[in-house]
Amino acid sequence: MTQAEPVAPSAPHKYPASLRVLHWLRVLLIFGLIAAGWTMTSLDDETAEKFGQLYPLHKSFGLLVLLIVLAQLGIRALSRLPGPAELPKHERVLSQVVHVAIYALLLIVPLMGYAMSSSFAHSDGVTLFGLHVPELLPKNDTAFRVFQFLHKVLAYTLLGLVALHVAGALKHRFVDKNPKADVLPRMM
Ligand code: HEM
Ligand code: HEM
Repeated sequence: MTQAEPVAPSAPHKYPASLRVLHWLRVLLIFGLIAAGWTMTSLDDETAEKFGQLYPLHKSFGLLVLLIVLAQLGIRALSRLPGPAELPKHERVLSQVVHVAIYALLLIVPLMGYAMSSSFAHSDGVTLFGLHVPELLPKNDTAFRVFQFLHKVLAYTLLGLVALHVAGALKHRFVDKNPKADVLPRMM
């Protein structure tokens, strides 16, 4: 009697629940951080809340994003994920490139924020919701300015990529005629 061939389990239709929860939690955090970053840097230095509350909260939530993304990448590596979306090749490649670029910036932007705060001679320090985080870089005004510039430019680049990412998801749902191109249910 011949043994039955093992049947390869078909790819799941959705991302695992943990990745879906982390994706939407991170969406809230990123929009909050960019809005807070933009607002707090526009405030007058004399405003008490600026350095007393907004900066420490921005740093804490920014570091939280870094931890979430590391967790997300770990879970992703160990999980079975949905197969590639049924999209024309150029759209599939574009969406994958945008995902990789978003993941890279989700790591680099908070690291630049940490490096900026860490190298700034007059920094109030870095805390994670009150917990002291060591500032590992030497104090250096030139390095601080480079990190400050990179943190700002890359944070707004991340926003631009997210806009492209959302436009893609909405196009696949509302414009494409093929229901299999709709990737939104995979993340809901
Ligand atoms: C994904 C995470 C983060 C995002 C999206 C983000 C985004 C931003 C944005 C949009 C600004 C305003 C830039 C401007 O218009 O001048 C900003 C400022 C700032 N961020 Fe972040 N940030 C993140 C994480 C962090 C972290 C982890 C730290 C420090 C530990 C940090 C420290 C700062 C500081 C100190 C400023 C003010 C810079 C200045 O006074 O010129 N950020 N951030
Ligand atoms: C700050 C905002 C956002 C960030 C940083 C972000 C980031 C990402 C990343 C990195 C992935 C790839 C997941 C993986 O394969 O591990 C992803 C997937 C996805 N995101 Fe977002 N996203 C954001 C906002 C949104 C919004 C607002 C929507 C809805 C309109 C959305 C819909 C989706 C969908 C449907 C997928 C799955 C795509 C697929 O299966 O091919 N995202 N997102």
